[in-house]
Amino acid sequence: MCGIFGYVTNKEEALGPILIAAAERLTYRGYDSVGAATLNSGKIDLRKDVGKVDSVAAKYNIAEMRGQRGITQLRWATFGEPSQVNSQPHLDSNGDMVGAHNGNVVNNVELRLEFMAEGMTVRSQNDGETCVHAVERYISRGYEFIDAIRLAYGDLEGDYAFVIGRANDDKLYAFKKGSGMVIGIGDGFTCLSSDLPSILPLTREVIRPQDGEIVTLWADRVEVRSVKDGKIIQRIPETVTESMDAVQKGGYPHFMLKEIHEQAQVARELIHLLDGSPDVQPLVEKMKNARHLYLIGCGTSYHAAAVGSVYIAQLAGLTAIPVLAPQFIAQYAPAVGYEDVGIFVSQSGETKDVLNALEAAEKRGMACFGLANVVGSTLTKATSFCLPLCCGYEISVPATKTFTNQVVTFLYLAYRLAGKDTSELLRIPELMEQTIEMVGPQIEAIAKDINEWNDMYCLGYGATYPIALEGALKLKEITYAHCEGMLSTEFKHGPLSAVSKGFPIVFVAGPNDVPLIISGINEVKVRGARTITIAEEDARLRANGDDLVVIPKSDAQISALLGVLPLQLLSYHMSVLRGFDPDFPRNLSKTLTVD
Ligand code: M6R
Repeated sequence: MCGIFGYVTNKEEALGPILIAAAERLTYRGYDSVGAATLNSGKIDLRKDVGKVDSVAAKYNIAEMRGQRGITQLRWATFGEPSQVNSQPHLDSNGDMVGAHNGNVVNNVELRLEFMAEGMTVRSQNDGETCVHAVERYISRGYEFIDAIRLAYGDLEGDYAFVIGRANDDKLYAFKKGSGMVIGIGDGFTCLSSDLPSILPLTREVIRPQDGEIVTLWADRVEVRSVKDGKIIQRIPETVTESMDAVQKGGYPHFMLKEIHEQAQVARELIHLLDGSPDVQPLVEKMKNARHLYLIGCGTSYHAAAVGSVYIAQLAGLTAIPVLAPQFIAQYAPAVGYEDVGIFVSQSGETKDVLNALEAAEKRGMACFGLANVVGSTLTKATSFCLPLCCGYEISVPATKTFTNQVVTFLYLAYRLAGKDTSELLRIPELMEQTIEMVGPQIEAIAKDINEWNDMYCLGYGATYPIALEGALKLKEITYAHCEGMLSTEFKHGPLSAVSKGFPIVFVAGPNDVPLIISGINEVKVRGARTITIAEEDARLRANGDDLVVIPKSDAQISALLGVLPLQLLSYHMSVLRGFDPDFPRNLSKTLTVD
């Protein structure tokens, strides 16, 4: 969801290639427009437009841009349609300053009107421009630059990270509120970015500024000041040891395929981590003693929560309520209290809908815990403790390995709640590897067969019901087809009328639900549907349906987990066959920091 990058060196140099490379590394966040600005000896060079990094860079010859400081921004439209004028970075009224942001300034509309009334030149609808004018306002009132920034910080409401530079200067200035930001300190340069992967290839010495801090970047040093009183805050840089492998495709054509293949390994690491974690037992106790237990998330993370609630019911006989984060606020938050427990589930740990729900729950005193992949994200800091998903970076917008590790975590917690031996779970990684191997070629062939269809259904029951929802989301997300996930038994209550000859319907059948699924298969088959069933080997399923995609034998819970792998692969292959980039589906962003 939008991304910014800034770079400061001590003399004029070719910054274009550095900015393009950094922009490329931010693309996984999702974007529709690209821009770059360089600053040097009183001059600002600004080039930007709607489009992909390579096409905008080629059209405007960004590679030739030179300067002593540079800013690049990828925009995912929220305020103002995707257009050249709304693209970032933005200039102030006189073209003396340039800045860019990511995130959302929620009082953008009001501030723009104020700035226009004050006589500033407001060119776009975009809130990034509002950030620049917010600083300009105080400069024109005679404030020093750093004080103007401090005052602007107070005026700009929302969650964002912002960088700004002046033509006649040798520094960049940055601050953040809510959103993430990382500062990098290199040899002869400093840089900043919305996130770590985009600066890792440049340097491993980083500072992570907090809300309420302003960072000034020179080529050879950075200075952090408090917004409140302007005083300098001493910050020691940390050395990041994370591997760069995660942000490279490692021989796979797409990150998504690589991440699908990483699932067994990250599950293995997760199970070992959970086995050794002192945080698990206190969490299990809290869950066991909760008056009500809520599992809260959005999108794929919500589907994992929904699988988790089935596991907890089936194995431990306890009720856990899975709920979409915004609906939690409307439906449950007014009634929760300190006796209740919430587990907030999120890959990014930055999803605004989830953080809003967390805030609502905390206000009522509910005990709030997290399950997140990005260590250091807002969720990991805002909850009393947050279990890590241990997946490393997930670059591809469609979540895959983080989903399966969320599900594995819930299965692990359900085992502990039930007092079951968790060593049984150690077979999961191998079963995942076998599944990918067993289903690969068949799924590719099915993808070709059904690729012409733009309407599909994915049906499941019990633990495979949320797996069907997740499969449908994956298919929608990267094939752009309409695919609905549904409880298999609900299909006859309406959607059955949509069935025509060849209409593809995917069933995910748990080993205990075969008779029920066979009824569903026959109901649609007699009306012409083509059925694809994901299940363990079963002669009855083979006899009743069309394709049977066989997954390894396990049990009701693990089988549901394995069932998602063929669905991930099906959506991946259909996306590629349609000529789309599964890693970066149109209109979507990896991290949704807006309401
Ligand atoms: O980072 P989060 O897990 O909180 O994100 C929630 C959803 O936006 C996310 O799962 C989304 O549905 C995925 N892109 C689906 O693949």
